[in-house]
Amino acid sequence: MQPVLGYTTRHIEHTTTFWRAALTIVYLNGEYLPLAEARVPVEDRGFLFGDGIYEVVRLYGIQPFRLQAHVQRFAHSADGIRLPLLHAAEELPGIIDRLTVENDLRDTEVYVQYTRGHAHPRTHAFPPEVRPTLLVMPLEMHVPPATAYEQGMPAITLPDLRWRRCDIKSTMLVPNLMAKQQAREQGAWEAIMVRDGLVTEGSSTNIFAVIGGRVVTHPTNCSILGGISREVALGLAAELGLVVLEQAFTVEQMLNAQEVFLTSTTQEVLPLTQIDGRPVAQGRPGPVTLRLREAFRNLVLAKS
Ligand code: PDD
Repeated sequence: MQPVLGYTTRHIEHTTTFWRAALTIVYLNGEYLPLAEARVPVEDRGFLFGDGIYEVVRLYGIQPFRLQAHVQRFAHSADGIRLPLLHAAEELPGIIDRLTVENDLRDTEVYVQYTRGHAHPRTHAFPPEVRPTLLVMPLEMHVPPATAYEQGMPAITLPDLRWRRCDIKSTMLVPNLMAKQQAREQGAWEAIMVRDGLVTEGSSTNIFAVIGGRVVTHPTNCSILGGISREVALGLAAELGLVVLEQAFTVEQMLNAQEVFLTSTTQEVLPLTQIDGRPVAQGRPGPVTLRLREAFRNLVLAKS
C-alpha cells in the first residue's frame, strides 16, 4: 500500500504552533478573548452529549469561501436538532470578519460550534431556558501535500455506522473518527462509508466516481452531509460540459470506476487512486479529476 505522506511534518507543526495558540483570539458567547482564556462549563451539553452542531469555513486570502452556504447549512443543522438559532446565524459573518482582522488570518480555516449550552442537573431531555454556547475560532489548516494531488491517495471501505441524520453537521462524530482512525491504521487516507451496499460518503469528505464517463455522487438526503465543496464541484463539472449524476452507486461500481475522488473544504478535489488495496483503473489520477481539481483551484485563486 502506498505510504501516506505528511505525518511527520504535521506533528512538528503542532509543536511549533503551540505558543501561537495562546495568542489566538476566539469568540465565545459574545466575547472576544485569548484561546487560553476561553472556558466552557463542564456541564455544557456539547461536552456531555455531543449535543451541538459545527461548521468549518475556509478563508482564501481573507475571504470566507461560500459563507452564505455555510450559514444556511448551519441553520439547517440547528433546525435538525431543534436548537434555537437566536441571532447566531446572522451574527456569524461579522464574527468571522472580526476574528480575521484580530488574528490577521489569511488562507486558513475558521471553526464554528453551537451547542445547547449548559444546565444542571444532567438530563437527556432538553432543559428549559438554557442559553446555547457559540464558539468561533481560527483553525490551523493542514492541507494534504502536493504529492497527494499528483499521485492520488489510498482509501478503504467500511460500513457506515452513523445515525440516519447525516445531513446534520453534528459534533457527535465518534463513528466518523473511528472510521478515519481505522483508515490511518491501515495506511489509507480516507475511509469510504458504505450503507446497504451503496457508497454514502467519506468519514469527513464527499465521494465521487466517474462511471461510464459521467460524474456520479450520492444525492443529498439524510444519508450524507451536503458538502459545500461537493456543490461547487458539481457546478464546475457541469460548466466543463461533463455529465453529472446525483445517484448512489455500489461499492462494485466504484471499484470498477474510471476515476474516484473526494471533495471537502480542506482538500478541495483530491484523487483516490487505490481502494481496499486495489488500484482504481490505472492507479493514477484521471483526466476528469485533474480538470476538476484545476477548475476548483482557478475558482478559489480568483477569490483570494
Ligand atoms: N468535514 N462529509 C462529511 C461527513 C464531512 O464531515 C465533511 C466536512 C464533508 C465535506 O463538506 P464540505 O465540503 O462542506 O467541507 C462531507 C469538515 C471539514 C470537518 O469535519 O472538518
